[in-house]
Amino acid sequence: MASGSILVTGGAGYIGSHVVGQLGEAGEQVVVLDNLSTGFRSAVLHGELVIGETGDKELVDRIIREHDIDTILHFAAHTIVPESVENPLKYYGNNTCSSRNLLECADRAGIKHFIFSSTAAVYGIPESGAADENSATAPINPYGSSKLMTEWMLRDLSLATDMTHVALRYFNVAGSDPECRIGQSTPNATLLTKVACEAAVGIRDKVYIFGTDYDTPDGTGLRDYIHVDDLARAHLDALGYLRDGGESTTLNCGYGHGYSVRDVLAAVEKANGESLDIIESPRRAGDPPILIAVADRIQEVLGWQPQHDDLDFIVRTSLAWEKRLLDKPAD
Ligand code: UD1
Repeated sequence: MASGSILVTGGAGYIGSHVVGQLGEAGEQVVVLDNLSTGFRSAVLHGELVIGETGDKELVDRIIREHDIDTILHFAAHTIVPESVENPLKYYGNNTCSSRNLLECADRAGIKHFIFSSTAAVYGIPESGAADENSATAPINPYGSSKLMTEWMLRDLSLATDMTHVALRYFNVAGSDPECRIGQSTPNATLLTKVACEAAVGIRDKVYIFGTDYDTPDGTGLRDYIHVDDLARAHLDALGYLRDGGESTTLNCGYGHGYSVRDVLAAVEKANGESLDIIESPRRAGDPPILIAVADRIQEVLGWQPQHDDLDFIVRTSLAWEKRLLDKPAD
């Protein structure tokens, strides 16, 4: 089946740029729309970059028309949970209202397929620590709510039109391009692997463990860390699935098992060959003790086959990127 071009919003960001790289390798025609608020021009390895806002309907209408777009991959979003609590309207504005504008343009143009970056944050604090796609959605912060509202808009638009979509709920994304061309470059990182690798290369002096008294084997939080390259591959699999006539669906993106904070820090120490200065500190508000994907469906539905389900590999690629950033900051 002949396919049109793909619009990737947020394609200069951490996850979007990895997907754009793989789309390029697959020979797809790509246009990236990014306002470069947290993305980087140099991260766009393929296709044309348009600098602008996802919520700018005139601009999006024009891009769709001029580039014969028939598919949208939507990554552009704010993603810092504590910031979403302090400034909820920023999150609803960008993650929900701008998504609504984008969907209006998609609807107007008769876009065939839409792939959406959703998050495990839609589950809040699942009782057993493991969430499948039918687990209750009960976000505990505006970030999760803003993403869930977009899932609902997508669901309703797909029901009302011929558009089909896949919403991918990411668990803890980590690592970077194994060839070290792109990675997570955002300043003021809060995510554990990035923070620990920054400490390993000397950008920070310490790493804090938020909570050592959880009811987990070593007392620290358990998460399902997924390599960004595998996550990116899931988007290409979702694209193939939708082009083959697959129906709209929502899928967890994780490996289905977890590592503790101490496991991650030990892996960083091993990869770097030096110990970290680790401070045990109180729990961080809003952190679930355990958040792990039940991840069977994505493999069944998309045929997704992860290649990097290996904490040491995840951490090695994160560390390599952090060292690369020291030599050459992202621009
Ligand atoms: C975060 C978001 C979550 C989002 C996910 C993926 C929060 C509260 N949650 O998940 O909504 O879906 O990213 O983008 O921001 N930790 C430390 N020290 C640190 C940093 C983290 O001990 O300096 C611990 C945390 O307590 C947690 C684990 O490491 O147990 C992972 O934390 P983090 O990397 O921030 O991700 P999440 O909070 O799981």
